[in-house]
Amino acid sequence: MAQRAFLCEPDKNQSEAADEGPKMPGQAGHDEKDNKIHNDMLKDGQLYIAHSDNGNINLVGKMANRHGLIAGATGTGKTVTLQVLAETFSQAGVPCFMADMKGDLSGISQPGKLSGFIEKRMPEFGIENPEFAGCPTRFFDVFGEQGFPMRATVSAMGPQLLARLMELTEVQTGVLNAVFRIADDNNLLLIDLKDLKLMLDFVGKNAAQFTTEYGNIAPASIGAIQRSVLQIESEGGNQFFGEPAFNVEDLFAVENGRGVMNVLAADKLMLNPKLYSTYLLWLMTELYANLPEVGDLELPKFVFFFDEAHMLFDGTSKALVDKIEQVIRLIRSKGVGIYFITQVPSDVPVNVLAQLSNRVQHALRAYTPQDQKAVRAAAQTFRPNPSFKTEEAILDLGTGEALVSFLDEKGAPSVVERAKILFPLSQIGAITPGQRMDIQAIAPKKLKDYEKFFDRESAYEVLTEARQKAEEEAEKERKALEKQKEKEAKAKEKEKEKKASSKSKKAGIGRTILGTMIAAAATSFARSAGTRIGKSIGGGSSKKSTSTAKKSTSTTKKSTSTAKKANTATKKAVNTAARKVTTEILKNIFK
Ligand SMILES: Nc1ncnc2c1ncn2[C@@H]1O[C@H](COP(=O)(O)OP(=O)(O)OP(=O)(O)O)[C@@H](O)[C@H]1O
Ligand SMILES: [Mg+2]
Repeated sequence: MAQRAFLCEPDKNQSEAADEGPKMPGQAGHDEKDNKIHNDMLKDGQLYIAHSDNGNINLVGKMANRHGLIAGATGTGKTVTLQVLAETFSQAGVPCFMADMKGDLSGISQPGKLSGFIEKRMPEFGIENPEFAGCPTRFFDVFGEQGFPMRATVSAMGPQLLARLMELTEVQTGVLNAVFRIADDNNLLLIDLKDLKLMLDFVGKNAAQFTTEYGNIAPASIGAIQRSVLQIESEGGNQFFGEPAFNVEDLFAVENGRGVMNVLAADKLMLNPKLYSTYLLWLMTELYANLPEVGDLELPKFVFFFDEAHMLFDGTSKALVDKIEQVIRLIRSKGVGIYFITQVPSDVPVNVLAQLSNRVQHALRAYTPQDQKAVRAAAQTFRPNPSFKTEEAILDLGTGEALVSFLDEKGAPSVVERAKILFPLSQIGAITPGQRMDIQAIAPKKLKDYEKFFDRESAYEVLTEARQKAEEEAEKERKALEKQKEKEAKAKEKEKEKKASSKSKKAGIGRTILGTMIAAAATSFARSAGTRIGKSIGGGSSKKSTSTAKKSTSTTKKSTSTAKKANTATKKAVNTAARKVTTEILKNIFK
């Protein structure tokens, strides 16, 4: 019986090995003999995964890209099954990606050790001296804390995935689409969130201008998207969107013939299920977009494990589920196998579930009628085995036990078997932070370069510069206008002064405040002086003098000439008096 004795302990020289090492499978420069030693050890191209009363259960290498599902209640052995599958792929030279939800998958990097549980099972598996070994491993972390950052640009993520991340409505998604197109048509790069924020602001402010070409851009939709962007930002989106953007080709490393395990620390990421699942979905679509068609291979080129897969489908629009289904269907011919891990198969939409041909079903619990329904549904997805009732077996399975059905050589699902999953040769459970640091330290330079963030010219810089220029222009115009007004005001003032001075010249006193005061004082003095003079001439009051004058006018013409004379005398007296007063006042002021 085949021993799982592939040596894949982390190599002290793995950094150099990876730097010059094998290119991604199918890529120019990739040396297929990298896989050879291990392929020889695969019994007839089959991967030994579990054992049943009827013998070994092997995953057929060339059917491994037909995707799979690992399901089961909590604590039943899903993560360990993932680990067994992944390390077997690694031994066969197939690199894998996996999200580590609890930190326990990090153990894949270290050799495992015997436990009572394992020892008890060894004879059943026909294994006497297991050669425990870890796999070449790289750690990644969207937040850059427990591994190399894996950043994505806003434009690479695209409006559809972003809309899902931001939980936008259909109308808002349409507006976001328009914003992306406007950016594209104007060569504005959307790299990070500040690019997107300013772009939204720009489109919002110029909505009327864009509406004819790009459809209705309602301010309310822009506002809603802006609020969602702020939300993503507050959840750490700034670390996630930006450059250097992660190149999925860096996941395809093979070291000394062993596929590298790319482990994404997801304990923090999964606290935001939308970010987690959108990110993994992006990675999947990037893989799809970057790989060439290869047809059927003896072994997949890459295997992608999608833990907590239900998060991917919770609240996902029908359109996106259709897209996921399409990607999963087509990525197969690019040599990529996708394995979903979730509690019950019904977490996965039927169309997607139908694509997952290699199944491992761990125990399920049936406490409620709903649970029972889920168990029945799970049982019905298997080709029945006459020797046991699938539904009953699902409820009865122990830890590390599962109902297993893989595709056979011809691509037909095998009859379901009740089996024990092999134990991993790598460590079960988390590693220490020190061990993690040691592994990171020997990683290739190109991965370390992901830690050097940069911010090149993109929409934010271009729009900020344009805005600054526009503001400067506006400021210039405003200043010019102000100057013009000032000029006009001065001209008016001058005109007034001119008029005033010609008036005051006539009055003999300038139109200054002093002049006004003097004039006012002089006028009042003159008035009283005139009154006094008038009194002395006409006697009594001025009223009296007027009536006397009137009387004298009406009485005799002679008296008219007398009055005229008196008038002239009055004027003279007034002028003399006024001049006197003016001189007095000026003296008082200047003394
Ligand atoms: N195939 C196995 N070989 C050896 N031990 C196993 C195996 N499967 C499970 N175990 C043991 O059972 C424990 C729980 O398994 P595991 O962590 O895989 O469960 P799980 O289904 O992933 O749980 P959860 O849903 O909580 O993540 C493991 O820590 C390990 O000790
Ligand atoms: Mg688990």
